[in-house]
Amino acid sequence: MTPQYLTWNKSPHREVASCNDCHVPQDNVFNQYYFKAMDGLYHSAVFTMRAEPEVIVAREASAEVIQNNCIRCHDTRVTDAKLLATIDDHEFHRTDRTCWECHKEVPHGKVKSLSSVGHQIEPIPVHIPEKRDIIPEWLRSYISDEEGDTINQPAP
Ligand code: HEC
Ligand code: HEC
Ligand code: HEC
Repeated sequence: MTPQYLTWNKSPHREVASCNDCHVPQDNVFNQYYFKAMDGLYHSAVFTMRAEPEVIVAREASAEVIQNNCIRCHDTRVTDAKLLATIDDHEFHRTDRTCWECHKEVPHGKVKSLSSVGHQIEPIPVHIPEKRDIIPEWLRSYISDEEGDTINQPAP
């Protein structure tokens, strides 16, 4: 999943939407845990067996979850009265297909196969001390919540 991490890490959504904000249903608690378990099982099986496809495309269940999350945060894009009034078939065009059919670059970019993005390690801009830490704050606290405080603090 390195390409997905790296592409997201370079996208505007990095600061506003974590992986789970898009990939896990946000409507109710039970749904969240159920989906995480199902999706997690699928992923770990695929990745341990190295059956990871060259280009990962969202499966149908996954796509529906993502779409609902796009709308959750950007509902004005679908319901805005000014857009509805001024653009032909606006609502239809915003809901009869996935948002990323048009917004192909959100958030993983258009070029995201394993061989194009690869397993490269994210370069760390060591010359900027406050940027030496590449793990965003929300991910750091999420990991340390899960595993106890095992992640080292950034170098001073
Ligand atoms: C802004 C919403 C958004 C965020 C945030 C996001 N993704 Fe995605 N992700 C998508 C969309 C949209 C696709 C579908 C792209 C496609 O099908 O070509 C996708 C596809 C994927 C896929 C492949 C398909 C599948 O079955 O889910 C993986 C794996 C993935 N993302 C992992 C991640 C990881 C890891 C992160 C966090 C580092 C992340 N995503 C953050 C929207 C998001
Ligand atoms: C957790 C809330 C959240 C989710 C989920 C989310 N977005 Fe966003 N999105 C934002 C915010 C906030 C911004 C403004 C970011 C900025 O100004 O830097 C943004 C910016 C954007 C932009 C303009 C910047 C760009 O990357 O081109 C587009 C287009 C966009 N979102 C589409 C989507 C799509 C499509 C999805 C679903 C795959 C999605 N968003 C999911 C909150 C979200
Ligand atoms: C038919 C193609 C198409 C679909 C489908 C589509 N959009 Fe867009 N979207 C556009 C275009 C074109 C623009 C730029 C023109 C504008 O601002 O209205 C845009 C603009 C945006 C912006 C503002 C981007 C910015 O840089 O300020 C956001 C956010 C956004 N769309 C979210 C979504 C979401 C969420 C969905 C799914 C519900 C979606 N779009 C579906 C074509 C589409």
